[in-house]
Amino acid sequence: MNTKPEVIREGFNIAAYNTMGISATSRFFAEVDTLEELKEVLAFARDQHLPMYFLGGGSNVLFVDDYDGLLIRMNIKGKEIQNENDDHLLLKAGAGENWHELVMYCVEKGWGGIENLSLIPGSTGAAPIQNIGAYGVELDQVFVSLEAIEVSTGERRTFSKEECRFGYRDSIFKNELKGEYVICSVVLRLQKHPEITPSYKALTNALAEKGISKPTIRDISNTVIEIRESKLPDPSKIGNTGSFFKNPVISKDQFHTLQKEYPEIPHYPAGDEIKIPAAWLIDQCGWKGKRFGDAGVHKMQALVIVNYGNATGPEIWDLANKIQHSVQQKFGIALTPEVNIIG
Ligand code: EPU
Repeated sequence: MNTKPEVIREGFNIAAYNTMGISATSRFFAEVDTLEELKEVLAFARDQHLPMYFLGGGSNVLFVDDYDGLLIRMNIKGKEIQNENDDHLLLKAGAGENWHELVMYCVEKGWGGIENLSLIPGSTGAAPIQNIGAYGVELDQVFVSLEAIEVSTGERRTFSKEECRFGYRDSIFKNELKGEYVICSVVLRLQKHPEITPSYKALTNALAEKGISKPTIRDISNTVIEIRESKLPDPSKIGNTGSFFKNPVISKDQFHTLQKEYPEIPHYPAGDEIKIPAAWLIDQCGWKGKRFGDAGVHKMQALVIVNYGNATGPEIWDLANKIQHSVQQKFGIALTPEVNIIG
């Protein structure tokens, strides 16, 4: 029987470890800095038959109850060039690297590829799980591979891009392999002489307003940061998890029916189907800026649910359910959370 590793704490309040700022107690909690620590902690959890959940930056999770298991915060750091030629380099980054700091590091170095993903909260190890994306770029466009540890055996495995089965805010780690692997490092392919082709309307408009016609990666990063800061709340000031729901994808038939009633409905192609901004649907139902106690809908972005201070997990979840219900009633569209609901 494994004795409890020193790194594991008991009865731990995790308010500081989730950006929604939900106060909840985890039966066990460990912050791991090395692979060895991770393996020890996994062995203990297997031995005790504890459920486990892995936290990166805690920016994509809502705790609706105390957690009766072991929460593991991945803090394994490190940045290393694996390979390079005249045009590209492969950068390996530890799962515990803060995503935005990694983006800033690459922008400083002049390495292009992830500048559109500036200021996304969370950790590098969490980025592949939901294939983070913003302003016309998704992680899979620069992703090469990742290393993970199988939770049930402690064995190391490399996943290629194909094996990760990336989709819109989706990967194999949210589906078939949910909870089975913990990501320890990620390899990205970055450009040494970045070609920049911003295509996302909000971004091209903002660059045009600033009179920038040939943006550098620093211009892109700065502009994305300005846009995000202007409409997304800073989690260190107001608790939130970014977009709470995914943008729903509906059939063309359903879209054409809706468009007759709402000619101004924003929409984007998504393969054979149509993607509708959840923010617009929620906004149309009148939720933007609404507040119930300390739980509310952000006044600048209807897709962001916020905790103004002491909202509980169930209060936030209750608000989310009411939003889902009203969007279903008005538009016949089911919204699915983008965040993980735990408890
Ligand atoms: N809109 C409204 N009301 C609002 C906000 C937006 O009607 O309060 C409408 C507007 O018509 C706007 C459209 O919704 O044109 C789309 O809004 P926006 O460009 O802000 O993007 P989004 O679809 O709401 C997605 C991502 C964000 C990402 C932005 C920018 C999802 C679920 N969300 O939001 O990602 O930053 O695009 O690329 O795909 C996140 O995942 O946490 C996140 C913030």
